[in-house]
Amino acid sequence: MTREKLQIGLFGYGCVGQGLHDVLNSSKGFKADIVRICVKDRTKKRRIPMSNFTFEKNDILNDPSINLVVELIDDAEEAFSIVSTAMRGGKNVVTANKMMVAKHFKELVDMQAKYKVSLLYEASAGASIPIIRNLEEYYDNELLYSLRGILNGTTNYILTKMHNEGIPYEEALKEAQLKGFAESDPTLDVEGWDAKYKLCIITGHAYGLFLNPDEVFHYGISGISKFDIQYAKEKGFKIKLVPYVGKTNVNTITSFVLPRFISPDKYLYNVDNEYNGVITEAAFADKQFFCGKGAGGHATGSAVLSDISANSYGYRYEYKKYQQGTVSNYTRDHKLEIYLRYKNDEDRELFGFEEVSEYFSGRFFKYVIGVVNLERLFTLREQLRDLDVFIVNTGRKVINPQTI
Ligand SMILES: NC(=O)c1ccc[n+]([C@@H]2O[C@H](COP(=O)([O-])OP(=O)(O)OC[C@H]3O[C@@H](n4cnc5c(N)ncnc54)[C@H](OP(=O)(O)O)[C@@H]3O)[C@@H](O)[C@H]2O)c1
Repeated sequence: MTREKLQIGLFGYGCVGQGLHDVLNSSKGFKADIVRICVKDRTKKRRIPMSNFTFEKNDILNDPSINLVVELIDDAEEAFSIVSTAMRGGKNVVTANKMMVAKHFKELVDMQAKYKVSLLYEASAGASIPIIRNLEEYYDNELLYSLRGILNGTTNYILTKMHNEGIPYEEALKEAQLKGFAESDPTLDVEGWDAKYKLCIITGHAYGLFLNPDEVFHYGISGISKFDIQYAKEKGFKIKLVPYVGKTNVNTITSFVLPRFISPDKYLYNVDNEYNGVITEAAFADKQFFCGKGAGGHATGSAVLSDISANSYGYRYEYKKYQQGTVSNYTRDHKLEIYLRYKNDEDRELFGFEEVSEYFSGRFFKYVIGVVNLERLFTLREQLRDLDVFIVNTGRKVINPQTI
């Protein structure tokens, strides 16, 4: 297969942009030139000569010698404007921007077909783990029951530090920021938005549904306390933030992002720090486990490079599951068993527990373990932020009447 010589216009020279630059410079056999780099801040000191940079996006978008735009900025709306202009102008694009892809998913898929260009975004979900291309290529005809995992390096780093070293949440978050794992706005990580955007992208490739992220329930770790860590430790569990998508019947799926108790016999138990892990469960391949660095300039840069390389031989996502159209419905009518740590009994009442298997009331906190409906959690989503509670999915199987 002949490889097209790539002339790259790069947007963003932050953590990932610089990581990509390093990775590209160390990949001896691979020929691609970065023609221009567009950044925002005119006062910032750069580690390479200023002649490489521009502050004007059209210097890249209108340059006919540039055939690939690599978008690595931290502003999703501006990223969408850059990416859609590049695609309309016939340029292929590689991006790592999950918020942008998740929020404009269907539009971006349609634009690829309309303008006959390719948009690749492997680094946007799971950073260095090649999960999107695996879902595209290897689970093409297989019945995929579910996919779950750890998709956010920052929260995993925080939870690891809290569990292993007993350090408080705020301190662990600061460390994650210093190491370059956290998003510029860390609420995206700790409130579970980032994991949800990634889950929505994965859902598009796993099941062919381009979900509106607003329809998917997410809950993060910002409400966690030392009592929750203590409870988990006493039971021999770790708490991880685990997005889930799975079938509830032949043509219907459900999905959500929730912290989850993980026991030592589970694959995800040893996925610590900034590492990510993804578990797929399929009819014939059974369980498969992917693990790799989920954040950081070089790890993410390596996934971006892999997309750049794929681009050079004309690779495009085919969206096979979407074309097949086997899954057509999305539901939140799904029962889950959760641990709820709370203070006020009125707060507990909001959750409408259907069955309760464990209950504790102490001097500092109370908890209950029982079955709730995902739809109920979804209706509470705005309120949850203001309540003094913390929710963890126990991960125990609950009989859902419609489940296959
Ligand atoms: N960090 C990770 O581990 C990781 C992992 C996976 C995916 N990602 C994704 O990768 C993307 C970049 O993340 P990052 O961590 O590299 O961010 P970052 O370190 O904050 O860097 C952002 C870069 O974007 C540039 N920028 C912002 N707005 C711009 C605009 N309007 N025009 C041109 N340049 C602009 C900034 O310019 P200045 O240099 O002038 O400020 C900076 O160079 C994000 O979408 C993020 O979600 C990050």
